[in-house]
Amino acid sequence: HGTSKINDEGHLQIGGCDATELVQQFGTPLYVMDEALIRQRCREFVDAFRASGLKFQVAYASKAFCVMAMCRIVEEEGLSLDVVSDGELYTALQAGFPAERIHFHGNNKTPYEIAMAIDAQIGCFVVDNRVELHMLNAIAAEKRQKVNVLFRITPGVEAHTHEYISTGQNDSKFGFDLDNGSAYQAVQEVLQLSNIQLLGVHSHIGSQIFEVEGFQLAVDKVIGFAAKVRDELGFIFSVINLGGGFGIRYVEGDTPLPVASYVQAITESIKTNFNKYDYPTPEIWIEPGRSIVGDSGTTLYTVGTYKDIPGIRKYVAVDGGMTDNPRPALYDSRYEATLANRANDPIEEVVSIAGKCCESGDMLIWDVELPKVSTGDILAVACTGAYNYSMASNYNRIRRPAVLFVKDGEADIVVKRESYNDIVGNDLVPSRMKQVSK
Ligand code: LLP
Repeated sequence: HGTSKINDEGHLQIGGCDATELVQQFGTPLYVMDEALIRQRCREFVDAFRASGLKFQVAYASKAFCVMAMCRIVEEEGLSLDVVSDGELYTALQAGFPAERIHFHGNNKTPYEIAMAIDAQIGCFVVDNRVELHMLNAIAAEKRQKVNVLFRITPGVEAHTHEYISTGQNDSKFGFDLDNGSAYQAVQEVLQLSNIQLLGVHSHIGSQIFEVEGFQLAVDKVIGFAAKVRDELGFIFSVINLGGGFGIRYVEGDTPLPVASYVQAITESIKTNFNKYDYPTPEIWIEPGRSIVGDSGTTLYTVGTYKDIPGIRKYVAVDGGMTDNPRPALYDSRYEATLANRANDPIEEVVSIAGKCCESGDMLIWDVELPKVSTGDILAVACTGAYNYSMASNYNRIRRPAVLFVKDGEADIVVKRESYNDIVGNDLVPSRMKQVSK
């Protein structure tokens, strides 16, 4: 991927840095992010939209990987930013991300989060439901502000990895239902609310999607709704947000399209459909997360123990696991791996990679082909840039790894490895218990 290659010593090299040297300097487990590849992915989205001639915003879905240095990259590349919590919002603001390019998502924004976002003057709220709509209007009124919103609708298109299915769609915790009239009612209501400016609608059909059909179907649904709202309520949407979900290649057999193909399918289907209804072409927003950072990340681990159960399998244990990558345990996600210190060695065995947590489900990869593995080898697991650090935990009180950005042979720590104090720093021993001095 990206700037990764194998150097003359047979070591994996990422962003011009020898992975084994990174390990000596920074330890394992270690998240290594290829900065040039992140920037390239940002540009692929922007360039594809520019080519379409439509007005657009590409908002990076920060839930995939939200740290201050990442917010800086997103800002520099001219993208907007999607946040879903006060923590993500705070990170973006601390990084100096321009508030007007921040979009706030989520199905249960608290009054505190809403107030914080209004005070920061963020660009747009993606309103998920009626309760939020009225809460937002009330808080905005108190603050004498008018806020921009999109309505999140459930388009009845649910995309899965290899297929999309039309659902009855009432069964989602997110958004206003299109078919039962609640989205329409919300538009009627918002037109009466003086502290809210409706810009348009938002639809997100799923994640790790390979085909374009789901997005095209969502556009179909959205234009139908937009036309009804125009014809019956006289209101025109100026923004359509089609969410994220563009797939990436984790393992052989995953068949994502190039970023430009998704964008093209969306912009083409917008042009055709909105023309058909003689509707002014809206601004198109999207929210890619995984496809911006997923393939830029590699996790480096040190191999510790291993055991062979003859005729069954060889378990190879690394110094991380579900704490730094919960995706295999949560979703049965699959990954590929190599030995970073012996990347040219011939494949000799099929092993299964176990984490170090006290849990049988803590397996990172079942059946991966590797050279003969032993203690001290450096295992590199690819495509761990999205939803790994952001979903990491301290289960078993394991400290979260450091995150490095590598580029042109330089490595910078963007998140420090957690310390023991990070582990116990928030613990308090009640005064009625015996106090121990250290
Ligand atoms: N917009 C909305 C409203 C979303 O809910 C999501 C993801 C995105 C954008 C970004 O989707 P992406 O482009 O990254 O697929 N933890 C899971 C993924 C959860 C995605 C949730 N929403 C995983 O590790 O696969």
